[in-house]
Amino acid sequence: MGAIVRVRDAEKDVDKIKLGAEIIKSGGLVIFPTETVYGIGCDALNEKAVEKLYRVKGRPANKPLILHVCSTDQVYELVEVNREAEILIEEFFPGPLAIVLKKKEKVPDITSGMSDKIAVRMPANRIALKLIELSETPLGAPSANKSGSISPTRAEDAVEEFRNEMDEIGLVIDGGETDIGIESTVIDLTVRPARILRLGRIGVEELGEFLDVVTEKPKSEHYRMKAKVKIVDPAAIPEIVGIELRKGKSVGVCAFEDVIDKALEYMDSLDISDISANLSDSRNVQRIRIVRVSDLEDYSRKLFRSMRELANCDVAVFQSVRETGIGRAIMMRLREAVKQTESAERTGNKKV
Ligand code: TXA
Ligand code: MG
Repeated sequence: MGAIVRVRDAEKDVDKIKLGAEIIKSGGLVIFPTETVYGIGCDALNEKAVEKLYRVKGRPANKPLILHVCSTDQVYELVEVNREAEILIEEFFPGPLAIVLKKKEKVPDITSGMSDKIAVRMPANRIALKLIELSETPLGAPSANKSGSISPTRAEDAVEEFRNEMDEIGLVIDGGETDIGIESTVIDLTVRPARILRLGRIGVEELGEFLDVVTEKPKSEHYRMKAKVKIVDPAAIPEIVGIELRKGKSVGVCAFEDVIDKALEYMDSLDISDISANLSDSRNVQRIRIVRVSDLEDYSRKLFRSMRELANCDVAVFQSVRETGIGRAIMMRLREAVKQTESAERTGNKKV
């Protein structure tokens, strides 16, 4: 069974990261933090290791990995860098952006999902960068969740995802909660205009300053929850929560602090016997679960964690936000969660 090591400082704890690098070099799998979400990484140039990663994650063979690098030189070794890529590398690396380019021969087909293109990204996280550097190879690293599940933002969520596969994981590096909390923006630079395949912290506005871009509909991420997901305007949250509670439903709410306070006040005034008895009573945890966020950045950081925490409520209410910058990335994921829950209901295939 793979060990779990806590790393808070990439320099001071370098010996622990070295352990991870040794495992990568010998073809193993390591779970590690990035600034976006946790990744499960292997040597991207070792076909056997990549095969193992696909098997353990349960990932379809045609879904390519993102190459994680620690230097610009590595980018040039792996892919054909064009003018647009040069500009974005200069501007956004290291950071939450993955650029899709034509791959060079040294990247195995299995790593690119049998395609001639592959995404490259340099994570802005010192632990991740050190792990890649010491591994002396690019890491193929999808989010550290089983295929079809929500990306983990904490080591314990990743461990929970792979609880049945821990024997196959060489090491888990726990670097605390990830900073951004949603996956990187993925942009295909082999076509004109460039296509945003997945929207993350780096938005259309920022990219649009440097090149023409179009945004594709999100397709491949998974946010399915058992709860009925609702995206609600802040002003309407207290009432909606009240309605569901009066129906006897268990309700999860993820919203800004002032909205939560108003909702709690309103619930208190409703006098629903098992709720108003004592809103802070732990016995009521069954009926109402709350995630408070302080601002938009905090919302993105806690989004996936709250999807996990609210997944088993009857109803999960998420506050809607303005669709600019990271707000758009949050809303796209929430809408996808609504859609995936609805389609699960239709097919009767309710998976968490
Ligand atoms: O933030 C992130 O990018 C995280 C951390 C660990 O770095 N990684 C991550 O990888 O989210 P993954 O494999 O879970 O998601 C990559 C997404 C998938 O939806 C995949 O289909 C798409 O990016 N993608 C990757 N390479 C692609 C390519 N060559 N062409 C089209 N889509 C690609
Ligand atoms: Mg993923």
